[in-house]
Amino acid sequence: MLPTPADPQGASHTPVLLAECLEGLAVYPGGRYIDGTLGGGGHTEAILQRSAPDGKVLGLDADPAAIRRVEERLRAEIAQGRLLLAHTAFERMAAVAEQHAFAPVDGILLDLGLSSFQLETPERGFAFTHDGPLDMRFDPTRGESAADLLNRRDADEIADLIYRYGEERMSRRIARAIVENRPIVTTGQLAALVERAVGGRKGQRIHPATRTFQALRIAVNDELGQLERVLAQALDLLLPGGRLAVISFHSLEDRIVKVWMREEGKDYVPDPTSIYGGQEREPRLTVLTKRPLVASDEESARNPRSRSAKLRIAEKK
Ligand SMILES: C[S@@+](CC[C@H](N)C(=O)[O-])C[C@H]1O[C@@H](n2cnc3c(N)ncnc32)[C@H](O)[C@@H]1O
Repeated sequence: MLPTPADPQGASHTPVLLAECLEGLAVYPGGRYIDGTLGGGGHTEAILQRSAPDGKVLGLDADPAAIRRVEERLRAEIAQGRLLLAHTAFERMAAVAEQHAFAPVDGILLDLGLSSFQLETPERGFAFTHDGPLDMRFDPTRGESAADLLNRRDADEIADLIYRYGEERMSRRIARAIVENRPIVTTGQLAALVERAVGGRKGQRIHPATRTFQALRIAVNDELGQLERVLAQALDLLLPGGRLAVISFHSLEDRIVKVWMREEGKDYVPDPTSIYGGQEREPRLTVLTKRPLVASDEESARNPRSRSAKLRIAEKK
């Protein structure tokens, strides 16, 4: 990435669907926001600008390197007391907001998945395009790496997770090849092994290991569990009229967000044990995006990462 004046080291991550997020979160001067996925701080920086002079952001990230980078880059906003940072998984959002006396809030953003820094740093082990240790943890200070997972689980467990989280039809064959070639240590080793197991590339659009790598990353970071656990907390943390914006990058996480928003937006819950068939209730939110927002052609051309992004927005009642 070319250095820009605001980013002398060229260390920025281009925020996806930025205008749509600011609009969707209805960011206003003096508002209070939580960014659950700080990353390179691109969205946070824009929220701080739009909420100036006294708006505030609490930024969370499981990755200590992301926190350190934003600490450097947005030093002035931290010194002004407008930006607070916390190294934590976002499933602890409610507890962390309470610790910082930072609730209720006007808006919460989740821009799921991994950042370009993580993808482009070989030592983090996310990419099959750069050889490195097979790690894949957002937080390398805790938990089991992708290599540990593959070297410890049995073939059925590995096949199930590749099938479930990667939607990979050849999961059994891949799992068998993994178990036969253990220990698996590097990203390059795994990518080559998967490619051999599924019989090469044969004119495929994507690398044959893409789905296996996605599955492992989701499993290592318990991405779907984290998302399920944060949504309810986020709704509780919002003021009435506050907004929740979630950007997802694959169908498994988008489905969780879509179904949850739809359920919380219902004014009626079916109950098969009731003679009335169910009961009325107050919906807790209004879904503002009947269909998810996606990147324009212009953004997709400029930032390939935005091509699979889907943004859903809800407003708390
Ligand atoms: C796509 S990036 C966010 C980019 C950011 N919006 C920006 O504009 O620079 C996602 C970030 O969320 C973090 N992350 C993913 N899952 C997380 C979780 N469960 N808890 C905390 N951070 C998480 C990752 O470490 C990564 O830095």
